[in-house]
Amino acid sequence: MPPLLEVRALHTEFRTGAGLVRAVDGISYTVEPGETVAIVGESGSGKSVSALSILRLIPDPPGRITNGEILFDGKDLRRLTEPEMREIRGRDIGMVFQEPMTSLNPVLTIGRQITETLEQHQGVDRAAADRRAIELLELVGIADPARRLKQYPHQLSGGMRQRVMIAVALACNPKLIIADEPTTALDVTIQAQILELMKTLARRFNVAQIIITHNLGVVARYAARVNVMYAGRIVESGPADAIYHAPRHPYTMALLRSVPRLDRPRQARLDPVDGQPPDLTRLDGGCAFRPRCRFAVERCGQEQPALEPVEGGHLAACFRSTELLASQDVAA
Ligand SMILES: Nc1ncnc2c1ncn2[C@@H]1O[C@H](COP(=O)(O)OP(=O)(O)O)[C@@H](O)[C@H]1O
Ligand SMILES: [Mg+2]
Repeated sequence: MPPLLEVRALHTEFRTGAGLVRAVDGISYTVEPGETVAIVGESGSGKSVSALSILRLIPDPPGRITNGEILFDGKDLRRLTEPEMREIRGRDIGMVFQEPMTSLNPVLTIGRQITETLEQHQGVDRAAADRRAIELLELVGIADPARRLKQYPHQLSGGMRQRVMIAVALACNPKLIIADEPTTALDVTIQAQILELMKTLARRFNVAQIIITHNLGVVARYAARVNVMYAGRIVESGPADAIYHAPRHPYTMALLRSVPRLDRPRQARLDPVDGQPPDLTRLDGGCAFRPRCRFAVERCGQEQPALEPVEGGHLAACFRSTELLASQDVAA
């Protein structure tokens, strides 16, 4: 079976006062039907821009997709008209964003947020849409759905609002859900509940997911594969297990030391990734991680390492990935 989504050499740029920002600088990856893929990286690494590019929601100006292909379910999304894209958004691709307070409409009831999508994409009548809305709220674990339908977003807790977002995303039986930092605004216990819920529902309905997060600690349980982004590029990509237990890029190793992990003692020390994320308007021809990298050698300043296989299905963009394997002090 072909992948559900294939992103090929995607480039998205912004023209800003400070200069040209190559927010997404040639990323390629695939998502198989029903598969959950995580995109991980620090703030500013291009995760959201990469997702918004797939949905063709990049504000132009200042942004523009300048190159690449986005093949989704047999269609090249870059070639679709805006009305065709509107059909795909919300119907074939569901979306869950970080702050449901801004993505839910504050003046519409919970019920209306859901029925609006159903009426727009599936042409169902109001009564059928209401019945489906109740069913969806039950699915996402909201008690007393008939009463909740009549409430407004501000009457719900953050966790409940995120459940509503998931209900909206699932309403039209999408093939893919893109969740951009879906739990970042929530406290840790609720985060786990929401991620569990997404995992259960994705399995049950065979929906593929792209989960975007800056927390590499949470993804291992929820994603089959992980793409690590740095400065607009994928610097490491592979099965979650390999990324977790045998990372081959110094940035991934640093990220792993910076997040709480479920497979390590709770008191293990957390180190923030040293140094600052790069200024994307001032990248040179070398590896963008070089100034923060304790493994850097001269070559790293001269050429940009390509993303290359280090092992079956595991890729890394680092000239020193072989030496890194020997030096795995990530467990320390
Ligand atoms: N509308 C915009 N105008 C100018 N620059 C933008 C815009 N949106 C994003 N960027 C830039 O693109 C880069 C990547 O941003 P983003 O994808 O939001 O990062 P992440 O989601 O990984 O935190 C950042 O340098 C950001 O400043
Ligand atoms: Mg973001």
